[in-house]
Amino acid sequence: MRKNVVAGNWKMNTTLQEGVALAKDVNEALKGVTPKCDVVICTPFTHLASVNAVIDTDKLGLGAENCADHKSGAYTGEVSAPMVASTGATYVILGHSERRQYYGETSEILKEKVALALENNLTPIFCIGEVLAERENGIYNEVVKKQIEDALFHLSAEDFGKIILAYEPVWAIGTGKTATPEQAEDMHAHIRSLIAGRYGKEVADNTSILYGGSCKPSNAKELFAKPDIDGGLIGGAALDAASFMGIVTAF
Ligand code: 13P
Repeated sequence: MRKNVVAGNWKMNTTLQEGVALAKDVNEALKGVTPKCDVVICTPFTHLASVNAVIDTDKLGLGAENCADHKSGAYTGEVSAPMVASTGATYVILGHSERRQYYGETSEILKEKVALALENNLTPIFCIGEVLAERENGIYNEVVKKQIEDALFHLSAEDFGKIILAYEPVWAIGTGKTATPEQAEDMHAHIRSLIAGRYGKEVADNTSILYGGSCKPSNAKELFAKPDIDGGLIGGAALDAASFMGIVTAF
């Protein structure tokens, strides 16, 4: 059966020293509890090796926030999937709306990133979600369907089974405006039915689909209570160990 997952996305926040301190705080907080979910922190590239050295990776997974769409070579400033894996990280966020919006990531590029992540035994946390105008125009189901079809549905069932999805409505990211549990559940059920249509019910039932967008300790319980919501991808609230733990323990 699918896993529940709470993953932090630190985005472009914290210096190395601040990041290591935050990771240590989360690691320490986890010692006292047995969470009913896998817990992951996704940090800036610069922090990965140092964070890996101070956490118990049996209890706290580590991931990057992106990786390059090439394996190696003359791509100044890029960080490859093998490089990420060599730090000890085992997850990578791909297709975050901020990458799509500000750095022009298309489904074609994301296909390459997904392939390289899988080749290097990194679990992709693959983000999808509509912008506000698409929500208001009522085309959100089609938008998300196309994002998934274009970037993922060429995969074999075996490879698709290695992916965690994260539904992040762009209008809910960093805005304090969370999707209602009903809006999120409707979308998650839609996504699961698309997966069932392509790969069958068993693969669909085994796929973890996280919600992201202004998820906080105060609203996590209600969201995670929904049958198709298997956890969260957490931005702002992951930058404070206590609030992140408040979400982890919402299961
Ligand atoms: P916030 O939790 O800050 O809204 O960010 C969500 C997000 O983008 C996680 O990837």
